Amino acid sequence: MEISVLQKNRANYRPKLPPLFAEHGLAVRTLEGLAPEISAEAISRDFSKTSLLPLLSFSAEPGKKSAALSCGVVLSGGQAPGGHNVIAGLFDGLKAANPDSRLYGFLGGPSGILDNKVKELDKETVDLYRNTGGFDIIQSGRTKLETPEQFQRVASNCLALGLDSLVIIGGDDSNTNACMLAEYFLQHGIPLKVIGVPKTIDGDLKNERVECSFGFDTATKVYSELLGNIERDANSARKYWHFIRVMGRSASHIALECALQCRPNITVISEEVADKNIKLSELCDYIAGVIKNRSHQGMDFGVAVIPEGLVEFVPEVRRLILELNDILAQEKDNFEGLPSDEDKQQFLIRRLSPESAQTFSSVPQAIRAQLLEDRDPHGNVQVSKIETEKLIGDMVHDRLRDLAKKGIFKGKFSAQYHFFGYEGRCAAPSNFDADYAYSLGFTAAALLADGRTGYMAVVRNLAKQADQWAPGGVPLASMLTIEKRKGREVPVIKKALVDLDGKPFQEFARNRERWALSNEYLYPGPIQYYGPSEVCDRRTKVLELEYGQSLARALAGTNLLKDPTFLESLSSEELEKFTSVAQHMSVGKDWVVIRRGEEGLAFYVVLEGELEVLGSDDKTVIATLKKGDPFGEIALLTDSPRTATVVARTECQLLMLEKQGFLDFIAEHGPVEEHLCKLCIQRMEEQEAT
Ligand code: FBP
Repeated sequence: MEISVLQKNRANYRPKLPPLFAEHGLAVRTLEGLAPEISAEAISRDFSKTSLLPLLSFSAEPGKKSAALSCGVVLSGGQAPGGHNVIAGLFDGLKAANPDSRLYGFLGGPSGILDNKVKELDKETVDLYRNTGGFDIIQSGRTKLETPEQFQRVASNCLALGLDSLVIIGGDDSNTNACMLAEYFLQHGIPLKVIGVPKTIDGDLKNERVECSFGFDTATKVYSELLGNIERDANSARKYWHFIRVMGRSASHIALECALQCRPNITVISEEVADKNIKLSELCDYIAGVIKNRSHQGMDFGVAVIPEGLVEFVPEVRRLILELNDILAQEKDNFEGLPSDEDKQQFLIRRLSPESAQTFSSVPQAIRAQLLEDRDPHGNVQVSKIETEKLIGDMVHDRLRDLAKKGIFKGKFSAQYHFFGYEGRCAAPSNFDADYAYSLGFTAAALLADGRTGYMAVVRNLAKQADQWAPGGVPLASMLTIEKRKGREVPVIKKALVDLDGKPFQEFARNRERWALSNEYLYPGPIQYYGPSEVCDRRTKVLELEYGQSLARALAGTNLLKDPTFLESLSSEELEKFTSVAQHMSVGKDWVVIRRGEEGLAFYVVLEGELEVLGSDDKTVIATLKKGDPFGEIALLTDSPRTATVVARTECQLLMLEKQGFLDFIAEHGPVEEHLCKLCIQRMEEQEAT
């Protein structure tokens, strides 16, 4: 088979792993942390076997031997760049655990498990797909696994194949199903383990323990490249308004990321529309207003980004869709039996509430037809088939005509429409997604090798380079909440929508008025696979900004301002500054954070957990460090090697500030410097005394 030159070269790319796996392979064991809180009693009751599971991290166990594993893997839902690398990481992890391990891929998504469509994935096959986009190695599908009959069929098919485990790579719904399967198998004594892996370009599978799903990074880079190109074209020709709909079934994370990367003139964020109860007509007024204002400045061109899921967030359209869903579900046969589109629409208008009938009648004919297209297997409108950008563009055009009649708008308006969707889902994964997805697969293998089930494989510290990544396992049941779906209360993993109080949205909101009227376009260009790390390993803006925000929250949670520690003199603004320059680090139990005699490279503050400071024999514990305690200052302040070894006694969360950042920071904050110098002298005296 002929492959492209890039593909040939990318085949040799060795994805980066978290340092623990890079050094020890699968000679690791899991360490148990606390069991996270469960959000509802019904979940504790229905998930009695998986809701009490603890958080997991890993620690090295040199010489560890694992039994051979026989694992099935399935890709579920929409494609996301990196899926092949999850499989490659899983394959390599299973083989590292025991060379006799085997991996089987179920074909065409979860239906492949039910229909027993499966193939063994050998090294030759896996090698062909390393670092490539797409899910074509075993394809994907959207069948839901949710009934006991299906679970039983999954069990019998997997057991007949001799499997002991199943890895489900999917989004919120698929991981909810993974949790239900794990619980079912435990409750029924079925010897099959289940691990989930967070996938979706939409970026809405994330929470306080899952920093992001794989695929979001690459997809948003592809869309941002295209968006930047269109901005440049708009700015060159100066004659078109471009309306661009970007994928993302529900949440607007993709639109927000593209906005932060490229600074288009208008970006609509669906969550804000819903929150402020903005009507479609008001939204179009706003857009027409920007077009008019730019026109006054001689700029009859611009770029507007519309999130794919918008229609379901506009209050009156949302109501209309819900009513249509009900009517189409209840009167499907009557509706489908009608001879013409006109009859069908009249049939619906008679059954809709007056307000929804009015909304339905007011949208263009093409959009009406799109709203009636088949629902997906989850009963959702297929938003990728609704041309929202045209709907908005048409309505805006009507408004501009009205303004022109009144002599308020004197410019020209000519629109171009685009949809950025499928072209981003199967791109060759960026370095970030190649590394992250591979690490997730490897982590899944490590969880299975340690006999764990009911977990999502996770990797933390993603905003940092891979040599600071920390793999782990989060109980799937801990992510469940109860939601009403189709009239029934069901456990689901909640979709993470754009947080309007969060840093990414705030950053956008702070700048949007300026971006609307100026041409501060940014042109990120194509994904780079070779070259300097600042170009090739660039993180998404959303990941970086959310990371800073979670630091600030973690730090606020430690009450550092109230504790008599070195940060007590900082105002909340200074504290935020400190957190924006410091890095968040997770370290496993027994990790040596500082080693006596080594060069001092960083300063630390304990956010969670306990560490011990060892005396000159590297055994005697001379101090215990807890939440809020700073350490590592002596070597930096005295410019000497580390005077003591510091070991994590539990899993710890730390804030780390590299040497230069630390020195710059204290230089600007006299009282902090003074406090740390006193602490340094006191600690040196204590060390001498031991
Ligand atoms: P997942 O949630 O399954 O990852 O799918 C994401 C997505 O690409 C959405 O952005 C889009 O709305 C949808 O899939 C399109 O679905 P389909 O591939 O079935 O047309």
